[in-house]
Amino acid sequence: MSNQVQPLEKKVIAVALLASAVHLSLIAFAALRLGITVPTCVTEVKPFEMGSLTKVGDKRYEIHVLAKMWGFEPARIRLPAGSVADIYVISRDVTHGFHVNGTNVNLMAVPNVVNNAQVTFRHPGMFPVVCHEYCGTGHQAMNGSIEVIDGLAEADADGVVAQAQGQTTQPAKLVAQSDPPGRVLALNKGCLACHSVDGSVSVGPSFKGLYGRTETLADGSSIAVDAAYIRESIREPQKKLVKGFGPLMPPIPISDGEIEQITQYIGTLK
Ligand code: CUA
Repeated sequence: MSNQVQPLEKKVIAVALLASAVHLSLIAFAALRLGITVPTCVTEVKPFEMGSLTKVGDKRYEIHVLAKMWGFEPARIRLPAGSVADIYVISRDVTHGFHVNGTNVNLMAVPNVVNNAQVTFRHPGMFPVVCHEYCGTGHQAMNGSIEVIDGLAEADADGVVAQAQGQTTQPAKLVAQSDPPGRVLALNKGCLACHSVDGSVSVGPSFKGLYGRTETLADGSSIAVDAAYIRESIREPQKKLVKGFGPLMPPIPISDGEIEQITQYIGTLK
């Protein structure tokens, strides 16, 4: 009869129950005998809702960084030299980047995901922080800094939110009526966050005098910078890296026409 339990079904049920029993006893064994704690329900662990700097020990700090359009919270951090910092990064909105110049801290800030890295700041100095993931029109304004100070009292370490809550730096303010379209694009696409136009060295090579300059590449070869090289470097930033600069530039959503305008603009920066 069809409503009778078949012998095969009994076997399947027995095997399933046995497997469950083995599974649960292994968890119990791990928890009670090996001291391995079973994680609590993931949904109970809320990611932090605001940035913070916490002193957790002798020259030990925990920095919770909240990345958001378009700034970091806290934005300006001061630590005594010799500090060890555990950095935890999360995003409130879209995917951002969190790179601390001069260290190997290079994290993605992703909504609902906490990424972390530990860094020891042995020497005093200014460590600029940049968002290296294109995240919208305010991307180039998204920066911060970690200042490591010799002799700073540990209790004086702090992290301040430079921008008022919800306030964003509008790139429009930086754009003048007379600006060529290539400059406006370079601003809006975030290029100028990392490439100066006055010759100063930043995250990337300066645009000033770039056109026609001979650059030494990471592989030791050299190249005379022309329009073709600039176009290629916007499309494939990592392909021919200039020596001394890291592979930090993200691929940028950009059209051929826009690349042409930016390339022309760079050509005017003698
Ligand atoms: Cu945040 Cu780019």
